[in-house]
Amino acid sequence: MNTNEIEQKLKEHLKPSRYRHTVGVAYTAASMAMAFEENLSKAYRAGLLHDCAKGYALEEQSRLCEQYNIMDEQLFHDSPQLMHSALAPYIAREFYEESDEEILSAIQCHTTGKPAMTNLEKIIFIADYIEPNRKMIPGLTRARKLAFTDLNDCTCFILKQTIDYLKSQGNKIGHQTIETYEYYRKL
Ligand SMILES: [Fe+2]
Ligand SMILES: [Fe+2]
Repeated sequence: MNTNEIEQKLKEHLKPSRYRHTVGVAYTAASMAMAFEENLSKAYRAGLLHDCAKGYALEEQSRLCEQYNIMDEQLFHDSPQLMHSALAPYIAREFYEESDEEILSAIQCHTTGKPAMTNLEKIIFIADYIEPNRKMIPGLTRARKLAFTDLNDCTCFILKQTIDYLKSQGNKIGHQTIETYEYYRKL
């Protein structure tokens, strides 16, 4: 599928605010790719596809996780928002004809990140957090500046902000988020 076709299909499957966010992530990722001399079209496509599984209700996401054999009852019970990123590469491959492994990997780890990410993976993780339609939260201005100056510092900063926020809300913090943070904190 070309990007135009992907956009049309996403527009039908995502609610308007989610589609707006999706396009914001795609353009932000492409801009960051310019800054770091990465592949623009891959960054744009990964940005478009990162939330492609968000068009499904949680029960449907759960059913799809079973279908693709990626169900992790405990993990998804504690953090249901992780299902849409675990599903993303499967949905992108099956319904959006995406076969680029770098893109599929970047959309898979966009919620928690992971240790030793590629630049494209970091770009999608960061672009999801900073895209222009995001509501202002503490630290966002700093994250937006770091996004165009240092991908590792920016990744570390976003993880720290996320962990602090989850703690302040009394929410659980997933082990993948902690592992990613520990990795980037030590760099
Ligand atoms: Fe997402
Ligand atoms: Fe997103």
